[in-house]
Amino acid sequence: MFTSVIIPAAGFGERMGAPVSKQFLSLRGKPIIIHTLERFQQCSEITEIVIAAQRSAFQQIEFLVREFHLTKVRPIVEGGKRRQHSVANALSFVDARAELVAVHDAVRPFIHRKILLTAIEKAAEYSASVVAVRAKDTLKIGDENSFIESTLNRSSVWIAQTPQVFKKEILVRAYEHAKNNSIEATDDASLVEQIGIQPVLVEGSYDNIKITTPDDLEFAEVLAHRFEG
Ligand code: CTP
Ligand code: MG
Repeated sequence: MFTSVIIPAAGFGERMGAPVSKQFLSLRGKPIIIHTLERFQQCSEITEIVIAAQRSAFQQIEFLVREFHLTKVRPIVEGGKRRQHSVANALSFVDARAELVAVHDAVRPFIHRKILLTAIEKAAEYSASVVAVRAKDTLKIGDENSFIESTLNRSSVWIAQTPQVFKKEILVRAYEHAKNNSIEATDDASLVEQIGIQPVLVEGSYDNIKITTPDDLEFAEVLAHRFEG
């Protein structure tokens, strides 16, 4: 099955506060985005990789793609102001033959091969899948004055990660619906949920962190030592 992966990589990494966008920071001597891209390059179920980036980073990424022999990467597309805009633009450049489209953050380098494969399989079967982990802590809803309003039932709470994988036709429809109705969300599954599709949860790993703050980068160096794909 022709499966594309979209890698949104157009963020500026404000919470990281580094002089360069966090996806280009080094992890064990290699830019974070390269670790992530290698996961997909090495997975035989993935046919093509579509990266969305800021235009100013095109040259740097093209150079890295050649240096690391990432042959599945297609011409880079321009990202937008928000992640959602970056994914929407990349989606319009996905190959016409694609049946499944995965979306995966450039800054989640520790995605295990087995979990990715399960996410792809489940999306083929149920139309949409989301890699997630069970909440370990009890989650509270707070009001504007930081008083607890309610407590969630932990046994039904999951923390969504990426990859999130969809039948292409569904993701395209979800993004069109979001655009026409000015819906904004922080993940792709939320947009798909808005068109009445119920994605299936795929149990992932707590290692699959999104590198967001300087602490995460320190932790990532530890994880990188023990990561075995
Ligand atoms: N992203 C994107 N386009 C944007 C914003 C984010 O493609 N306009 C990408 C990021 O590059 C990252 C992923 O979406 O791979 C997850 O976003 P996040 O962790 O929030 O990254 P940043 O937006 O770069 O970080 P921050 O929010 O701290 O500025
Ligand atoms: Mg952001």
